[in-house]
Amino acid sequence: MKHSNEQRMYRQTRAEVNLDAIEANVSRMVRHLGDQTKVMAVVKANAYGHGDVEVAQTALKAGADHLAVATLDEAVSLREKGIQAPLVVLGWTPPNFVSIAVDLDIALTAFQADWIEAAGASLEGKTCKLHIKFDTGMSRLGIRTSDEFHAFVKALHTWSSSFDIEGCFTHFAAADQADTRLLDQQKQQFEQRLAQLEKAGITPRLVHSENSAAGMMAPERAVTYCRYGIAMYGLAPSKWVLDNSPFPLEPALALRTNVVAVRKISAGDTVGYGAEYMAEKEEYIATLPIGYADGWLRHMKGFYVIVDDQKAPIVGRVCMDQCMVAVPEKIDIGTDVTLIGNQGGHSITADDVANYAGTINYEIPCLLSLRVPRIFLRNKRIIGIRNKVLGDK
Ligand SMILES: Cc1ncc(COP(=O)(O)O)c(C=O)c1O
Repeated sequence: MKHSNEQRMYRQTRAEVNLDAIEANVSRMVRHLGDQTKVMAVVKANAYGHGDVEVAQTALKAGADHLAVATLDEAVSLREKGIQAPLVVLGWTPPNFVSIAVDLDIALTAFQADWIEAAGASLEGKTCKLHIKFDTGMSRLGIRTSDEFHAFVKALHTWSSSFDIEGCFTHFAAADQADTRLLDQQKQQFEQRLAQLEKAGITPRLVHSENSAAGMMAPERAVTYCRYGIAMYGLAPSKWVLDNSPFPLEPALALRTNVVAVRKISAGDTVGYGAEYMAEKEEYIATLPIGYADGWLRHMKGFYVIVDDQKAPIVGRVCMDQCMVAVPEKIDIGTDVTLIGNQGGHSITADDVANYAGTINYEIPCLLSLRVPRIFLRNKRIIGIRNKVLGDK
């Protein structure tokens, strides 16, 4: 992370990440879950686009004591950046790479007997921490059938000295809705699998099934850890959770830029590729240095941004590096623009953007590409910049 005079960022477009908001969202969840359940901060996908190491540090400071990512690469990257907290990879890791995980004290997810055989054979005396995953309703990853269960347990017994069964988990498909039938069913199945594991002499120390929605809406049912993802970033997992949230969520990310060009166009002039927008009268067009290569989708044509203290419609197609907005009068180069966040009494949320784009809020910060520098704020002051284009890790 670069500070003050070391800061290297030569463009206007940036994602501002308010670490105070992350801290507040984690602290509230820690309190909400009480003593029985702890927070495992889910910082996969560059912490949902927010910046993995900064979010991890902040979440740990706020009371989380375990981290989760999706890939071994993400876990290695966190270790290389100095994160020493317990860390688990939730996705599938090729078994020939397990010793890399062992060397960096990274726990892996396992659910296939063949994987245990292959990983065990490659460990050569080392011991790998594992979290056993059960598929109770996602049909994605995890032990699903009884045959798979028995084969897995048999393989584990064969290779018992190569593995330390640290955890066991499942993932809920529909914890973010009022209808809890599938959730109840998954929970019940998971409990049965845990009992079977215990019968087979395997007793994982950490048991985790809750995601943000399940942990927020039914904390009394949570087990040792809640894998806390989207709500840590201040976004609700669904409208139902938003409407019934047990505590306030503070969105952590704002997307901002500045006007780089302004031109007056006349009736009949067109804007952008395909000349899809044609002015009906004289008007001003402001060019913003953000486009689909930054994660601001072409689909956003027709949406709006906040320019100074006014809403301004996006006109014409969004280009790779720029998009254009219509403004009622001539404005200065450098005028402040907010695409997600608050400005001039207006607000655009990730949910607004997601609704317009026909997707979910999760996708919006994840889509912000590495070309967008992340600016980290504490007490409204910049405490660091991470600009991957210029080599920041
Ligand atoms: C296995 C797993 N656990 C936990 C999470 C966190 O879920 P959420 O962001 O809804 O809290 C995810 C997110 O995709 C996940 O895939």
